[in-house]
Amino acid sequence: MHLSPNEAAQNSMTDRFNAEAADWDSNPFVQEATNLAFEKLRPHIDASGAAKDSPVDVLEIGCGTGLLSTLVAPLVHEVVAVDTSAGMIEMLTAKTAQPDQPHNIFPICKLLEDPEDPALPAGTDGDGGRRKFDLILSHLVLHHVPDIKALLTTMLGCLKPGGRVLLTDFEDFGPEAMWFHPPSKMDGVERHGIPRNWMTSLMKEAGFVQVNVDEGWRMVKAISGWEEEAGRDSLLFPFLICEGVRP
Ligand SMILES: C[S@@+](CC[C@H](N)C(=O)[O-])C[C@H]1O[C@@H](n2cnc3c(N)ncnc32)[C@H](O)[C@@H]1O
Repeated sequence: MHLSPNEAAQNSMTDRFNAEAADWDSNPFVQEATNLAFEKLRPHIDASGAAKDSPVDVLEIGCGTGLLSTLVAPLVHEVVAVDTSAGMIEMLTAKTAQPDQPHNIFPICKLLEDPEDPALPAGTDGDGGRRKFDLILSHLVLHHVPDIKALLTTMLGCLKPGGRVLLTDFEDFGPEAMWFHPPSKMDGVERHGIPRNWMTSLMKEAGFVQVNVDEGWRMVKAISGWEEEAGRDSLLFPFLICEGVRP
């Protein structure tokens, strides 16, 4: 079977995350990054709940094993958690079956390219349309996405009017941002972080308003494999929170 370069890149990223899924939660950096993202996002999530009188419905894109989904779920009505890696989704599905885990998470293995994709839950209007969300989250995913503007357009179509995206990823702050991933883990890495001004423009072009892309936190990360070039073994990486609203 002939694969386009995009399909081949997608497959190689999915293979990588399938292989990493079983041990994903044992990575302390991933745990710390999720906890910091949750700490920074929580006031926004609480504000979304306070601003409306019906419960908040969340869509998470690139949920992985659901580290963030399981923290967010107790604060909201439901979390529809989407990932392209079957291995990651299997881990999350197993988690949601455990008695001590939230039971309002719905894992879906999918490359979501259409807001009306039948894989999404049905909406409440009874017209066959898909559910629309109050909030879309995506943490540590955008640097893997070949066409971010296309994904943003899909996200816009998945939101209710007035719904919000809160997207977090490390910033492309210059050439040293490349050291975020060890040389052995470059499969599926489309870019070395998110350039702040570029992301702001893309979000506006996709149709978001009240766009705000700003540093949310910083984290020290080991830069395995780059120690010689860098002359050190760790570096401080800035993380962005990218916020926008569907008009
Ligand atoms: C670095 S991991 C982060 C996982 C999780 N958010 C976390 O922080 O633990 C990136 C995840 O995004 C998923 N992914 C990449 N591109 C995606 C896309 N277009 N749609 C859905 N999932 C995607 C990968 O399969 C992988 O699970």
